[in-house]
Amino acid sequence: MTDYIWWRDGVIYQIYPRSFADTTGNGLGDLRGITSHLNYLADLGIDAIWLSPFYPTPDADFGYDISDHTAVDERFGTLDDFDELVTEAHRRGIRIVLDLVLNHTSDQHPWFQTSRANRDNPKTDWYIWHDTKPNNWQSVFGGKAWTYVPERDQYYYHMFLQEQPDVNWRNPDVYQAQMDVVRFWLERRVDGFRLDVFNVYFKDEQLRENPRKMGRRAFERQHHIYDGDQPELIPLLEELRTLLNEYPERYAVGETFFATSQKILDYNGPNKLHAAFNFDFLWSRYKPELFLNAIENWEKIAEETGIWPNYALSNHDVPRPATRYANGEDDARTKLVMAMLLTLRGTPFLYFGEEIGMRDISLRRNEIMDPPGKKYWPFNKGRDGCRSPMQWDASSHAGFTDGKPWLPVHSNYAQRNVAAQSDDPNSIFHFTRKLITLRTEYPALQRGNFVKVKTGVDGVLAYQRTLKNERTIFVALNFTDKGKETLLPEGEWEDVLHLSSPRVIKCKLAPNGIRLLAKY
Ligand code: NOJ
Repeated sequence: MTDYIWWRDGVIYQIYPRSFADTTGNGLGDLRGITSHLNYLADLGIDAIWLSPFYPTPDADFGYDISDHTAVDERFGTLDDFDELVTEAHRRGIRIVLDLVLNHTSDQHPWFQTSRANRDNPKTDWYIWHDTKPNNWQSVFGGKAWTYVPERDQYYYHMFLQEQPDVNWRNPDVYQAQMDVVRFWLERRVDGFRLDVFNVYFKDEQLRENPRKMGRRAFERQHHIYDGDQPELIPLLEELRTLLNEYPERYAVGETFFATSQKILDYNGPNKLHAAFNFDFLWSRYKPELFLNAIENWEKIAEETGIWPNYALSNHDVPRPATRYANGEDDARTKLVMAMLLTLRGTPFLYFGEEIGMRDISLRRNEIMDPPGKKYWPFNKGRDGCRSPMQWDASSHAGFTDGKPWLPVHSNYAQRNVAAQSDDPNSIFHFTRKLITLRTEYPALQRGNFVKVKTGVDGVLAYQRTLKNERTIFVALNFTDKGKETLLPEGEWEDVLHLSSPRVIKCKLAPNGIRLLAKY
């Protein structure tokens, strides 16, 4: 595979480190835990790991409030552990993508500690300070975005928690310090980055009021015109890309806050970021026409610009697909969306545990850890649900830890775990692994065009993936709970998913059934 590009052709697997595997018994997953499961990940067939933050953090936002961007929180290990993880991952052909949170730091970060102490210090201007509350800007997690500090008799701005002050990217020293963080990790052989809310790095220089609109929460009752998406971002993205290009095969995917097609066009491309997440797809309901809409929007962007699409079904902020789509413990619907994820034209992102169909945990109010959950329960129960520990086996705490897990393990773990599913050829684990293998066996699934197929059958989504000199793949997905039958496109077809029925004459689909056929 000479023309293989890992971030285009491969599958990226997101790990939320504190929930993956604990080797110390402190109830939190750690870097060594990830290293110890690399063989599992290599066997699953993934090409890269995106690691959610493992940097020192006071845990106001569970890792997304960082107090040192170039170190490892001692609860998760050491820099030596990190280096070992990179070495061992690379040995298996697995790339490492880090989560870079450069919009804000923790309020415990030494930069902020210095900055907040008084108005006359070397970092006085490293955050966004103002004598009054200058505008109506709101915090995403609730409340005003400006917090008073008596030592300075001033307010600072935080788009998220008050423990997450936004840095002042307009200050050249800050800019340089952030670029140094990127370089630090590149030098440590990191292959790419996921950029947390990168498009809000810059805010309006005059700090103007956001116009109002209708909405539920205060944050949603404004148009976010001035607290993000400023023109200064473009040269920054270009510089970041130049830095990445100094190293071979590096990659950056951006988490675009309030993503729109226009923003994706503005921030991605050959001189800017490589990729942007597709949240319309990720948040879609279980309806073929809604998924298709999200896919076609991306196809259009890709066609116009050459930006490579990507697809995910969940992440550490979003309920898992099985929680949203499945009927009870049945995996038919989860398999269907997994088949779609892994056969579309775009990089698939898997969130850890999706391969075994993990479901969210539900917590009582007094068990909630996540700040928005604490604040808005029961309307918003927070994001703890999708962050519960990985279910490895049927032993206590699902083999995740010998201690007390930081979040409860799902009660279904005795049945739903990696060990049990490895022994069951019909499990979603085997299904996922098979699809990942098929992607490598049929290059059309990686790089081929996406061509919608009109079936005329309600509830069925069908498409072909075509690539010159390679076998065409036909995919049909029945989103209904009833059996369906559709026409096959012209030609002779081989069932490459169910090898028991290689030559297919009719496209029969079981309820929530999947057909994946290769043209002879
Ligand atoms: C987006 C991250 O995905 C989320 O988990 C975090 O709370 C916010 N950014 C703030 O960093």
